Amino acid sequence: MDIVLKHTLFFALLLTLLLSIKPVLSSRHKNWGGVGRKLSSGDNGDLVTDLPGQPHADFQHYAGYVTVNETNGRALFYWFYEAMAKPEEKPLVLWLNGGPGCSSVGYGATQEIGPFLVDTDGNGLKFNNFSWNREANMLFLESPVGVGFSYSNTTSDYDNLGDDFTANDAYNFLHKWFLKFPSYRTRTFYIAGESYAGKYVPELAELIHDKNKDPSLHIDLKGILLGNPETSDAEDWVGLVDYAWSHAVVSDETHKIIRQSCDFNSSDPWRNKDCTQAVDEVLKQYKEIDIYSLYTSVCFASTANANDNSMQMKRSSKMMPRIMGGYDPCLDDYAKAFYNKPDVQKALHVTDGHSLKNWSICNNDIFEHWRQSKPSMIPIYKKLISAGLRIWIYSGDTDGRVPVLSTRYSLSSLGLPITKPWRPWYHEKEVSGWYQEYEGLTFATFRGAGHAVPCFKPSNSLAFFTAFLLGEDPPSTR
Ligand SMILES: *[C@@H]1O[C@H](CO)[C@@H](O)[C@H](O)[C@H]1NC(C)=O
Ligand SMILES: *[C@@H]1O[C@H](CO)[C@@H](O)[C@H](O)[C@H]1NC(C)=O
Ligand SMILES: *[C@@H]1O[C@H](CO)[C@@H](O)[C@H](O)[C@H]1NC(C)=O
Ligand SMILES: *[C@@H]1O[C@H](CO)[C@@H](O)[C@H](O)[C@H]1NC(C)=O
Ligand SMILES: *[C@@H]1O[C@H](CO)[C@@H](O)[C@H](O)[C@H]1NC(C)=O
Repeated sequence: MDIVLKHTLFFALLLTLLLSIKPVLSSRHKNWGGVGRKLSSGDNGDLVTDLPGQPHADFQHYAGYVTVNETNGRALFYWFYEAMAKPEEKPLVLWLNGGPGCSSVGYGATQEIGPFLVDTDGNGLKFNNFSWNREANMLFLESPVGVGFSYSNTTSDYDNLGDDFTANDAYNFLHKWFLKFPSYRTRTFYIAGESYAGKYVPELAELIHDKNKDPSLHIDLKGILLGNPETSDAEDWVGLVDYAWSHAVVSDETHKIIRQSCDFNSSDPWRNKDCTQAVDEVLKQYKEIDIYSLYTSVCFASTANANDNSMQMKRSSKMMPRIMGGYDPCLDDYAKAFYNKPDVQKALHVTDGHSLKNWSICNNDIFEHWRQSKPSMIPIYKKLISAGLRIWIYSGDTDGRVPVLSTRYSLSSLGLPITKPWRPWYHEKEVSGWYQEYEGLTFATFRGAGHAVPCFKPSNSLAFFTAFLLGEDPPSTR
């Protein structure tokens, strides 16, 4: 097998977590953003006031821990950016990255859609003019425990991680977080995410929907937004191999063997040796390029690349293999350097700045030992559609990992009636992609974007996000 699974120093990480000291809250009385400025959420102890290298910003942001399970001592780390203007009138959006095991702070917040993108020297941050907090209050969560700064004081928790575990902790997180931010308790709420969060997001949405039957627990969830999402394992796999073939990554012969010998619907597709060998050939060719972005260059300089976290594949008999979500391994290095700085950890209320936490963008151990993964989100989609939630799915069309074909096969298996046929959508007078509207669901492509779409098309992504929040079509005229 070509892809060798490497183990991270997980116990070293755990030890660091166990030894770490409760954050010292130093910023209680400071007023970020100038004299006399009204703090829309006040300082609840988590206000970030002196983040090293932070560009000037006219909005408040908060970071810290929320305990989600007191018995076992589980705490999830979040970073929350209020909207750039009129936060009290804007919705709340939770953003999740996938993996499983990857950080929404390292990817979403600081490489994709947050206001402060990590700079290429790892020392500072640069302002993102297309940050999604122009349109919404943006909440980034490192989930589940073991990801990024999030941790558990009970080591056996790390052996039990899976989809349901993750959804339950994220749900508890929301209610505890609302206690810190009461003005958001009844706010219009959306959940967004990409890659493996294609599972986290519908699963959390379903849990909220179910719990909402109790009025005291009601959360005003209005919709979900998914980018290059893992949706249905069998369809995702067929899409991956068809895309590799149709984009000249593998030969006709290899593709034909896969089509003849692989049953991706079976509980153990890898029992068939012809299938396994041919799929290995696909992965081997993808190792030559960037599977997340077919037409951009790969990172050669990366030190983290030596124990390549970014393209780990897991293949077990029970679950579909997964490749970790992520785009630029070089950028991952800069993020790692930044988040492991003592003054950064102190400013974000992670540690006291002395006994540090060991932050990495993806936790490979979580990825390898994932206990439970729902094979298909299609039944959940059906439920959420009939509940009237807004569901939008977008797909960067140069991603080979969760390619546009995978999403189209999954949506096709949903069998929804088409209400607006395939047509282009525009941004700055160019075709930004195509979209099609179904009864209860909107699907759109981003032309020339890889797996983490906003990295490639920041301005287009912001325009698309704006349309999603308004529930309006993406611009369909030049
Ligand atoms: C805390 O977590 C443990 C292990 O996951 C679980 O059995 C228990 O029910 C949780 N407690 C609460 C209050 O949710
Ligand atoms: C985990 O243990 C440390 C050390 O005892 C403690 O300071 C911290 O509050 C615990 N975390 C949680 C979430 O209970
Ligand atoms: C940033 O975005 C705003 C609003 O889209 C725009 O008016 C402004 O010109 C942009 N600034 C830069 C430096 O691109
Ligand atoms: C998997 O099985 C489902 C249910 O029988 C079917 O609808 C779907 O087309 C199958 N997918 C593949 C890729 O064979
Ligand atoms: C952090 O983890 C890396 C491996 O990911 C390890 O090499 C390093 O020693 C760890 N640092 C600390 C302070 O534990």
